[in-house]
Amino acid sequence: QTTALAAGSIGKDGYRHFMEKELHEHPLVIGQTLQRMVDPASRRVFLPDMPFDLATVPRAVITACGSAFYAGMVGRYWLEAIARLPVDIDVASEMRYRNPPLTEGSLGLLISQSGETADTLAALRSLRQKAIHILSVLNVEHSTMARESDSVLGTVAGPEISVASTKAFTAQLTVLACLTIATARARGMLDALAEEELVAALLDLPSRAAEVFTQGAAIRRLAGVVAEARDVLYLGRGSMFPIAMEGALKLKEISYIHAEAYAAGEMKHGPISLIDRTVPIVASVPYTPLFDKTLSNLQEAKARGGRLLVFTDTKGADRVSAIAEDMVVLPHVHDFVAPILQTIPVQMLAYEVAVLKGTDVDQPRNLAKSVTVE
Ligand code: G6P
Repeated sequence: QTTALAAGSIGKDGYRHFMEKELHEHPLVIGQTLQRMVDPASRRVFLPDMPFDLATVPRAVITACGSAFYAGMVGRYWLEAIARLPVDIDVASEMRYRNPPLTEGSLGLLISQSGETADTLAALRSLRQKAIHILSVLNVEHSTMARESDSVLGTVAGPEISVASTKAFTAQLTVLACLTIATARARGMLDALAEEELVAALLDLPSRAAEVFTQGAAIRRLAGVVAEARDVLYLGRGSMFPIAMEGALKLKEISYIHAEAYAAGEMKHGPISLIDRTVPIVASVPYTPLFDKTLSNLQEAKARGGRLLVFTDTKGADRVSAIAEDMVVLPHVHDFVAPILQTIPVQMLAYEVAVLKGTDVDQPRNLAKSVTVE
């Protein structure tokens, strides 16, 4: 399957842009990445052997750039909440100069599609000086970072041509989800039944992800509104906050519309003053334990004239429809994997806006696929 994907990715296969093609590969790459790490029969995660014990790691330090950093933020959320592992996280350009105090035996967790990003590589080298284990989540497995890591967990996303990352991001999330399960089990935080439940949620994802593409018309409707805006506010809470950040980054990168992501509960401490009819609010609000809290934040925005464009799911749809100007209804999935599924429509929205604006989607101005300078 990997070979088929690599060979097929030379052309656009009838899609308008590589980004569109790569968006459609989400279900495939999530499935391929899971195949490497999950045994569907026993519903257990099996990671490759690593030269350290996940059970005794006192702390993880996550670092990355761009979208990979947002994947790391979801990873922190999972590792803390499910594996009860303390996590520090920062963008690599900050981490490399921060000199954080580290307990001996801490895990350095680096995330990169290319494995060549200069800041991430420099952060890897500075973490290495502190003699901690270096574990990298990489898509290009023969990269500089791969050579300099103690262990590598591969994302099986195939070549990603579009400068803006899409499928590599959901593959990174898939790996981090498996790492979380393995860490939680090693630390005695997850019994067999609970592991089965989380693995089942992961195994369900490729088919749920494929269903997202039936919502193309709804996503294009939202794109029509966003494309007219000068500024857009993205909101989410918990593991959905980094997905809001990913949505805002994608929009900035390829449509050149200013977008800002906020933790929905923090909106009242600043950006609420920006809200009016001209600043659409894009919110990721699947039916999770934070649904009610996020919805009440959205109500605050609506009361101030905000136009709510909401990504929700079949369980949240009724209540969202009561306040949203427009919405996209996705399949309901387990809370654990909701950020992976919710990534797909926010990336598709940015893509459709860029198409409406007529920008160079695959080669946005001033950006490079892999930034190998500081
Ligand atoms: C560039 C790309 C982003 C990517 C980031 C990190 O800025 O435009 O899409 O997320 O680099 O790249 P990496 O290869 O380290 O994941």
